[in-house]
Amino acid sequence: MPSLNEIRTTFLEYFARNGHEIVESSPLVPRNDPTLMFTAAGMVQFKNLFTGVEHRDYTRATTAQKCVRAGGKHNDLDNVGYTARHHTFFEMLGNFSFGDYFKSEAIPLAWDLLTKEFGIDASRLLVTVYHTDDEAVEIWKKHAGLPDDRIIRIATDDNFWSAGPTGPCGPCTEIFYDHGDHIPGGPPGSPDEDGDRFIEIWNLVFMQYEQMEDGTRRDLPNQSIDTGMGLERIGALLQGKHDNYDTDILRALIEASAQATGTDPDGPQNIHHRVIADHLRSTSFLMADGVMPSNEGRGYVLRRIMRRAMRHAHLLGAKDPLMHRLVPALVAQMGQPYPELGRAQSMIQETLLSEETRFRQTLDRGLRLLDDEVANLPEGGALSGAAAFKLYDTFGFPLDLTQDALREQGRGVDIAGFDAAMAEQKAKARAAWAGSGETADAAIWFDLAERHGTTEFLGHDTEQAEGQILAVVDGNAPVAEAKPGQTVQIVVNQTPFYAESGGQVGDSGTLTTAEGRARITDTRKSVGVFIHFAEITEGVVKTGAGAVLSVDHDRRSLIRANHSATHLLNEALREVLGDHVAQRGSLNAPDRLRFDFSHNKALTLDEIAEIETRVNNFVRQNAAVTTRIMTPDDARGLGAQALFGEKYGDEVRVVSMGQADTGKGSDGKTWSIELCGGTHVARTGDIGLFVTLGDSASSAGVRRIEALTGAAAFDYLSGQDHRLAQAALMLKSGAADVPDRLRGLLDERKALQNEVAQLRRELAMAGGAGQSEQPGADTINGVPLLAQVLNGVTGKDLPGLVDAHKERLGSGAILLIADAGGKVAVAAGVTPDLTETVSAVDMVRVAVAPMGGKGGGGRADMAQGGAKDASAAQAAIDAVKTLLKG
Ligand code: SER
Repeated sequence: MPSLNEIRTTFLEYFARNGHEIVESSPLVPRNDPTLMFTAAGMVQFKNLFTGVEHRDYTRATTAQKCVRAGGKHNDLDNVGYTARHHTFFEMLGNFSFGDYFKSEAIPLAWDLLTKEFGIDASRLLVTVYHTDDEAVEIWKKHAGLPDDRIIRIATDDNFWSAGPTGPCGPCTEIFYDHGDHIPGGPPGSPDEDGDRFIEIWNLVFMQYEQMEDGTRRDLPNQSIDTGMGLERIGALLQGKHDNYDTDILRALIEASAQATGTDPDGPQNIHHRVIADHLRSTSFLMADGVMPSNEGRGYVLRRIMRRAMRHAHLLGAKDPLMHRLVPALVAQMGQPYPELGRAQSMIQETLLSEETRFRQTLDRGLRLLDDEVANLPEGGALSGAAAFKLYDTFGFPLDLTQDALREQGRGVDIAGFDAAMAEQKAKARAAWAGSGETADAAIWFDLAERHGTTEFLGHDTEQAEGQILAVVDGNAPVAEAKPGQTVQIVVNQTPFYAESGGQVGDSGTLTTAEGRARITDTRKSVGVFIHFAEITEGVVKTGAGAVLSVDHDRRSLIRANHSATHLLNEALREVLGDHVAQRGSLNAPDRLRFDFSHNKALTLDEIAEIETRVNNFVRQNAAVTTRIMTPDDARGLGAQALFGEKYGDEVRVVSMGQADTGKGSDGKTWSIELCGGTHVARTGDIGLFVTLGDSASSAGVRRIEALTGAAAFDYLSGQDHRLAQAALMLKSGAADVPDRLRGLLDERKALQNEVAQLRRELAMAGGAGQSEQPGADTINGVPLLAQVLNGVTGKDLPGLVDAHKERLGSGAILLIADAGGKVAVAAGVTPDLTETVSAVDMVRVAVAPMGGKGGGGRADMAQGGAKDASAAQAAIDAVKTLLKG
């Protein structure tokens, strides 16, 4: 009996032998179709190959595609657990031709795989074809030898397949398996077709047309093939089972659930195990593809699926969170074909544990409220909308969870009442918002949020995605379209563009529609709506159009590296400076990063060097950067650093990087853990290199470090190195000797300066530059006065000279005027025996006045002052003489 893994391999290898490229499953979040919530068919990733917009170097492909049908157009959530063949997650096996082969090859390929490779009894197979498709009928007859009564013509959409309201489509032929007349049910097209006897196993679509937005259909450039076969269905058939949940992978998960809860895998509890097994797969695969639980969009669908499963775990009597304990069983079953599952295993387990722990806080009380409400209802009566809304709003019960709980009792919910309660809450939120002091020009964003929900951000996982334009805003008013020359703001339903927040600048890039193109210069957000600032460059960009949004990759890469380096810097600062370091602000731009933090003194060079070393050690460690979603409390429990200025909601993103070395080798402790919504490198090595530009004061008690990473850091260091080499050349030393050589030169310079000063003094004592003899003293009014104008002497030299003259004269007054290049310094001294007669302070005051100076200060025996005009030196000397004359 082949396992599902073997069947998958057999399928892919069969088509590979027949010239098909084995292409990996695309992610569950489609990048190329903004109208789809999740990838729900194998053809999704090839949509643009069918329409001829995209070309690849193969024209035949085969895949095993991960699919989720929950939320959005394709939604099987409500039936899971209750039927044999509904899943929220399943794998679709497919073969595709992009303008290569068509019907005449597709039908034989399928028939031979089923009857020869898989050995299915041909007499049990029958097919449907679109009622006008005579060509397909003929091929079935000719190649498979099917008689007329096993080729059933169907006139409905069942045999005309399209992925959505627009896009590639065409007639199809479906292959059915007859499980035998012991099972009730009639052939397709018959009144009993919904029975379980005839099961569709494979759908071959003859892609021929493209359905356009205006309702017309045009021929595809090339006729193509898209086939889809549910692995679980063909698996059930090949494993001799009638129920998909009895196939090996799902059975293993059901048994894991039974074992973990100590319950019977079969019997009445089987329904809970089935829901748990299915939901374990969809939730784990969605998280592995980057979807995280939230209260909106895809994240809310994920949370809804999780919570449904958690209620069933509760009904099984699980006392503690269950779902995370089942992940190893899933990885054992499916980790080999889908390695992303193993890579994300710990993140998936942690997220499930945290979600279940949190939901359990309200689940019990919510279920009691539900029981009380139901107890008051008449037989079969619906739960009031108000009660369902209270369960939703207060206890975190998604509406479908409540419906699921009531279904077991044959009851429903008053949906109109629920919608009314929801509308009332929205009205209250609007009133609260209007009263919050928001400016009127923000109302347009609030309206958009209310109408379309907040923008879904895809940029953690991709830099290019398709979105639908919800609004083009010009001058604060929505417009239908914009043309070149216009600068507008564009809102889409989902975007890879990061909107400025948490210090990280907004993304720029391009937006392209079928009819026009715009340059996105910046992205910001308001009430959860991402606002793309756009300059229309070509054609016309219209509201309602589908758009390809491409982030400027190079710029984003630089921003990412800087943002991740900021986290490493934050941690290094705390290690080197102490735990008082807390973030006070940051900027993560493409060209640099800036980090403000609490610390009250300048960093030493050694501290900066130590910080750089630590950051670069973690860069070289090249550790994976991981992101998880958890409650703020759980995050803080992990030791996560909260970022300054951020308001945290119910759940936060936690970004972790680096393995700490505790001295006993790496013990798996994460080095940096921060709450952060920004975008980050995949591995720390992507930062390349980190260098600071030093630190400065930002405000009182707050320091600022600016730093560079990657190529900018290298260019900076390379420039520094070049300058050092130039210095070494000038100093005629090796680069390593530059500091010593420089220190030697500075010492030498100091010694020379001292020597020059000494020589100047000696020169001045000898009469000053240009004077040939010792100055003499004139005695005025009994006081010997030595007055002298000096060149080449500075103010600093004057006190020493005054003292020397005092000593030489023994008794007298000295006035020295130094002309030092535009500045005039004046000093006066009086020997102790004469200070009663004349004060040096007075001498300076009268001397500076004619030379344009003022004041002067000191003591009676020594005073100094400054002036401007040395040409009036004689007038200054004369003024002092007048002073002495009394
Ligand atoms: N697109 C078709 C389907 O989903 C065939 O792959 O059924």
